[in-house]
Amino acid sequence: MKIAKFDVSDDAPIEDGRPATAAPAGPVPRHVAIIMDGNGRWATSHGLPRFEGHRRGVEAVRRTIAAAIELGIEALTVFSFSSENWTRPEGEVDELMGLLKLFIRRDLHDLHTRNVRVRILGEGHPRDGEIQAMLREAESLTGGNTGLTLAVAFNYGSQNEIARAARTLAREVAAGRLSPEDITPARLAGALDTVGLPPLDLVIRTSGEQRLSNFLLWQAAYAELVFLPVLWPDFDRGWFEQALAEFASRERRFGGLDAAGRT
Ligand code: IPE
Ligand code: IPE
Ligand code: MG
Repeated sequence: MKIAKFDVSDDAPIEDGRPATAAPAGPVPRHVAIIMDGNGRWATSHGLPRFEGHRRGVEAVRRTIAAAIELGIEALTVFSFSSENWTRPEGEVDELMGLLKLFIRRDLHDLHTRNVRVRILGEGHPRDGEIQAMLREAESLTGGNTGLTLAVAFNYGSQNEIARAARTLAREVAAGRLSPEDITPARLAGALDTVGLPPLDLVIRTSGEQRLSNFLLWQAAYAELVFLPVLWPDFDRGWFEQALAEFASRERRFGGLDAAGRT
């Protein structure tokens, strides 16, 4: 697998197959979103059923939340299930639903104790009524917390989110409460599921795939993208710090010039 920057070259110190971890220096992103990919491939490469990859993936989620809190990140968004993941075999969908329910049951109290505020991104779906209810309960229980915001993208698809936001604004126009000229990027952003979250700074995708898979397309307009060759169940604080170090080394221009005024 060839991944620029993260390829282990001859002169890079190697520890269990990855470059040595550097403590993040420089700016820490306020909002990090993660496409947690590679559970199935992890399981297959260990001769295990895909379910085991998903189960180990939940452990990686726990590690990542703990690391985000320690690293002082304001908001962490995790892609837990996409609106396209329903096309997977029914057995796998059921397993994923079961794991998410178990995670909420087991971890919600602990997250609440750690001052984590849970947010949900995505649209309700007839097949997930129980999970939606649990997620909404998590949102209201932790709504007053002031620590890390953990946004869980469930049955989430970015195109669907943007279409829903457009529909909300169209209804306002139809009702005469808004004129078409009022529809600005800021107004549309305010109708997205991510309203109130800090601007997205960094998207991390594990497993070596280099695509966004319908995740936060609007919000990622000026986010830095970091693709890591690690499969999600193996993601840990070292990999997280690696991504943060990469982020800190990037020069963000937002369409302007660099700090010295050069193009
Ligand atoms: C990510 O791992 C988990 C979800 C998409 C729910 P995958 O299940 O996509 O694992 P791969 O990509 O098949 O290895
Ligand atoms: C993206 O991964 C969705 C989640 C991580 C939940 P996928 O495995 O579904 O994406 P594709 O199919 O490789 O684009
Ligand atoms: Mg995948």
